[in-house]
Amino acid sequence: MLINQSAVESAIKIIELRTKVLDLNIKCAELGLYEREDVIYHLNQDLTLLLKSSIKYNFLDRIDYGNSFLVGEGNLSFTLSLIKQLQTLPILITSTYESYKDLSDIGQYNAILLHNTGIKVMHNIDATNLHKVFPKSSFDTVIFQFPHSGSREPIGGHNPNYVLVRDFITSASYILKKNGIILITIVDNAFYNNVFRFEEISEQLGLVQPVKYNFDPKDYPQYVHSNTNQDGSALEEYKKFATWEFVI
Ligand SMILES: C[S@@+](CC[C@H](N)C(=O)[O-])C[C@H]1O[C@@H](n2cnc3c(N)ncnc32)[C@H](O)[C@@H]1O
Repeated sequence: MLINQSAVESAIKIIELRTKVLDLNIKCAELGLYEREDVIYHLNQDLTLLLKSSIKYNFLDRIDYGNSFLVGEGNLSFTLSLIKQLQTLPILITSTYESYKDLSDIGQYNAILLHNTGIKVMHNIDATNLHKVFPKSSFDTVIFQFPHSGSREPIGGHNPNYVLVRDFITSASYILKKNGIILITIVDNAFYNNVFRFEEISEQLGLVQPVKYNFDPKDYPQYVHSNTNQDGSALEEYKKFATWEFVI
């Protein structure tokens, strides 16, 4: 895993705290204080999650590991940046929601570039309908960077982005192998965390709680984030981003 420079100090502090917690755990076991052991176990779990949130998800390692599928790739520049950083051509399919002709100029250019590199690029792929396109258990990893439906109209009383992500996770879990992984990156602030409510979605779908990692777009030099329905990016407005990992 890559460590974010600015988070190194806090990561070291968390590791120190975990060591102390583990020492306490051993002492409690020696003294037969088993109910205390349970409290300490949960403290250790919380510290582990805190540690992961200060570490970046290693997309390159994960893509090297097996079959990957990217959805909602907009102008395909995130895919391009991944490919440029990998030593060998991965087993990867990337996709856009839009048709080829509806992509921006840079999107069309990147689609051709990726295709010529040997990467399969698909268009008109709806992240909520993957199970209708692919057979069961096809992929190790499915990735959606900055999902956004482009609509503000509530669906069944829910925020449309919440519905998009919930239906995406449901559909992606069908095409993933056992222990496959869904990665979703979002802006990490109270507003977006409240829109997506990943913990609630996981509970509803009977999944293990997702783990949150740090994400820095600057790690992907060719990545030019694009907004839904328009050119340009709103990412500059924000400072913190997170990749959420769901294990199926
Ligand atoms: C904020 S943009 C991010 C684009 C790109 N992933 C990036 O990081 O630059 C959100 C993307 O979600 C796509 N999208 C919206 N609804 C979708 C759906 N049902 N299935 C797949 N993609 C969808 C849009 O076309 C848009 O490209």
